[in-house]
Amino acid sequence: MNVLGIETSCDETGIAVYSGGRGLLAHGVYSQIDLHSEYGGVVPELASRDHIRKTLPLIRSVLAEAGITGADVGGIAYTSGPGLVGALLVGAAIGRTLAWSWQVPSIGVHHMEGHLLAPLLEKEVPEFPFVALLVSGGHTQLVGVEGIGRYLMLGESLDDAAGEAFDKTAKLMGLPYPGGPELARLAERGNPGRFMFPRPMTDRPGLDFSFSGLKTFALNTLNSELRNERDAAGTACLKADIARAFEEAVVDTLVIKCRRAVHETGYKRLILAGGVSANRRLRDRIRLVMEKEGGRAYYPRPELCTDNGAMIAYAGWQRLRAGQSEPLQFGARPRWPMEELPTL
Ligand code: KG4
Ligand code: ZN
Repeated sequence: MNVLGIETSCDETGIAVYSGGRGLLAHGVYSQIDLHSEYGGVVPELASRDHIRKTLPLIRSVLAEAGITGADVGGIAYTSGPGLVGALLVGAAIGRTLAWSWQVPSIGVHHMEGHLLAPLLEKEVPEFPFVALLVSGGHTQLVGVEGIGRYLMLGESLDDAAGEAFDKTAKLMGLPYPGGPELARLAERGNPGRFMFPRPMTDRPGLDFSFSGLKTFALNTLNSELRNERDAAGTACLKADIARAFEEAVVDTLVIKCRRAVHETGYKRLILAGGVSANRRLRDRIRLVMEKEGGRAYYPRPELCTDNGAMIAYAGWQRLRAGQSEPLQFGARPRWPMEELPTL
């Protein structure tokens, strides 16, 4: 069965075709960065309007790239939550309408389940059970995964998500939106030894996170050190050193909690997914730690870490082939706990 995947939960229109027999046939992402950059963040109404403009043309071009037509599509999967309600409704309305007119089943996919299953699109597929670290712009979650839909929330962020912390810290350092990848790039040039940032909540038991204090720490460091800088070169170095210390702190904190989750569950496999899992330092550290633990880390290629249609097509394919589908009514679930998903 060929499943058309539609992702419109935030600021990326992602479309893909996943084939049960042949794997991922094609995928395309249209990013709205240019649209939102002058506002320094996502403007929900502009996001919805742009999804309306971009979704159908992207579906046409992805179907063409996959070498198929609408007649070859056996099911449609669209993100129905969590995310921006207007943006979600665009993808849901288009997905449900196409499914009705093509007379095929459709399913609303949980965005974080999409991220969680993205590593299964790669050649080396992790077997269940595993620990999943989901790190995106809206979520930071450690999940015990026994199978599809069998999710145990082990820990999550009590305030800012890891990606949100990257974005906010980047913004206060004057970097353009979206800040996460920009801050990571700046950190490459930073001196790792100059500043030591805290590792929040690692001094107590448990698997929850708190990242909001790190941006304040970055701001205070910037303000107090700026006074000592005489020229633009010194200021640039200072910002790179702060970016490096911030990134080390986030990565170290995530790694400490991952190791703890692996010990608590006894699982030997850990998957990394969501936008922040594109971070090179995080990928390298998690791989090394899992090797030391006698286990293994899995993550998607970087383009499947950030929002995309492939993960939605794949998660939808898994559920559709198990016989799950949705009735003609559709809706959006801006807030939707992943533990409420049915098992397969
Ligand atoms: O999964 P995603 O594309 O969208 C959400 O579901 O939120 O994640 C986006 C987040 C943003 O906060 C972005 O800054 C962050 O992932 N991100 C990164 C990197 N690439 C994307 N953060 C740190 N380093 C990166 N290389
Ligand atoms: Zn996402």
